[in-house]
Amino acid sequence: MSAAHDVRGERAARRRFATFDRSVALFRAFLVEQTDPDRFYRLLAADSVRQISGYTPLAGRSVLDVGGGPGYFAAAFREAGATYVGLDPDVGDFAQAGESAGMLRGSGTALPVRSGAVDVAFSSNVLEHVAEPSRLLDEMVRVTRPGGTLFVSFTPWLSPWGGHETAPWHYLGGDRAARRYERRNGRPPKNRYRETLFPTSISATLRWARSHGAVEVVDALPRYHPWWARWVIRVPGAREIVAWNFLLVLRRTGPDHGGAAEKTELTGGRVAM
Ligand SMILES: C[S@@+](CC[C@H](N)C(=O)[O-])C[C@H]1O[C@@H](n2cnc3c(N)ncnc32)[C@H](O)[C@@H]1O
Repeated sequence: MSAAHDVRGERAARRRFATFDRSVALFRAFLVEQTDPDRFYRLLAADSVRQISGYTPLAGRSVLDVGGGPGYFAAAFREAGATYVGLDPDVGDFAQAGESAGMLRGSGTALPVRSGAVDVAFSSNVLEHVAEPSRLLDEMVRVTRPGGTLFVSFTPWLSPWGGHETAPWHYLGGDRAARRYERRNGRPPKNRYRETLFPTSISATLRWARSHGAVEVVDALPRYHPWWARWVIRVPGAREIVAWNFLLVLRRTGPDHGGAAEKTELTGGRVAM
């Protein structure tokens, strides 16, 4: 099969996957995220693995999930045949989905992983929770082997869900939205503005990707939308609002840049925490 045929086949598969019905199912599950997180996160994990499979094979590949959270993604990646390691600074999060084997405790901004060690670096809905998102992205590039794939998704600040549980009041300002939330609920929001939730944009992330010497942009799309709505990403300004959630797919190019902070090898084994 020719390379062009291969690329066309992959594109067609991605179209078959990103249907309107799939978007509706995700949206319905999202509506019960607070009351039935199991339903939402299991669906999201299975959906993400299918989406990623449209860009790279997963069977036999090592996957590092930066900010893996409660561990729902572990089962989905392992079912696809990948060697999965989740990393999160919050140990408590791991146990929620009954997963703690193969989990690392650490920050995405200083990954305890050897340079070029993983085939796939994945991070879902984490970038907006990090004060220096480019440091996390740089680290993901560092640990991915040349030819490997990176998937990064996040909710832009100007998305209707940008303020998370304070949305849509974040449009009036993050501090104001947080104060309103506290008045209404008698407690501060879980995601604290400029402490654990930061304004992150699609434009800034694309600028980072295009100026980085060791990655090429494979795809940039609204993660949950049907395939025919992907054009919104080409419209600066509007994309920050209507994309809802942004997915960036990158290919690692260029040689390894080991050196300075050589890290522990990624083993995929149980890590004592
Ligand atoms: C909204 S959850 C996303 C969980 C999961 N990836 C998903 O898509 O459902 C955000 C996660 O990012 C983690 N996180 C926050 N700061 C981080 C950092 N510096 N490095 C890695 N993960 C971080 C949090 O502990 C939390 O588990």
